[in-house]
Amino acid sequence: MGWYNTHVLPRLVTCACGTRPILRQRQKVVPKAHGTVLEIGLGAGHNLPHYTASAVDRIIAVDPCETSWALAQERVRDTGLNVDFHASSAESLPLEDASIDSVLLTFALCTIPNPGQALAEAHRVLKPGGQLLFCEHGLAPDPAVAKWQARINPLWRRAFGGCNLNRDIPALLRASGFSLDDVEQMYLPGTPRFAGFNTWGIAGRR
Ligand SMILES: C[S@@+](CC[C@H](N)C(=O)[O-])C[C@H]1O[C@@H](n2cnc3c(N)ncnc32)[C@H](O)[C@@H]1O
Repeated sequence: MGWYNTHVLPRLVTCACGTRPILRQRQKVVPKAHGTVLEIGLGAGHNLPHYTASAVDRIIAVDPCETSWALAQERVRDTGLNVDFHASSAESLPLEDASIDSVLLTFALCTIPNPGQALAEAHRVLKPGGQLLFCEHGLAPDPAVAKWQARINPLWRRAFGGCNLNRDIPALLRASGFSLDDVEQMYLPGTPRFAGFNTWGIAGRR
């Protein structure tokens, strides 16, 4: 799995993250980021074109996968944003307490091995009054879809680098001390329902 995970998987995920329905989701949250931004799980940098450049001072990006950073280079250049990359895991952020204005998390909580620890770290580094902007796929509300998610998940996780279909995103956020200030949910059009239930919005520090 080593070569597959290092070279094939990041490119597969890059394709999956570039679809039109997902692009529309990015447009709903990314432009709201401002000040010093922490982007967790940068991937190939699909969010970069959607930032409001005039509102952002700098972006600190973390992702343990260095191949992703290589794949993000073109978008970093094209947008001209000031991106400071750390090949680090979200569960242990190399950042001071209360140093970040906006944390951005898109389609990453599904894959981060310990999402509770990652959110606790996001909470720690966020300034009082700061915002966590997020868009994630996860546990579907319909029992029949949730049942399929549970069935498929073990195989899915192995094939897609640890991605989980059925994490309960609002519950994870609340358990880590966030209040859900402005949240929406829907099945993404053109996406299988087991992989397409999205939750997005703004969470604040409780
Ligand atoms: C499905 S991709 C999404 C990438 C990007 N956020 C996007 O919206 O296109 C998930 C990303 O999470 C990253 N990731 C996995 N484990 C992580 C961790 N412990 N901390 C931070 N990022 C992680 C992966 O390397 C991958 O780039």
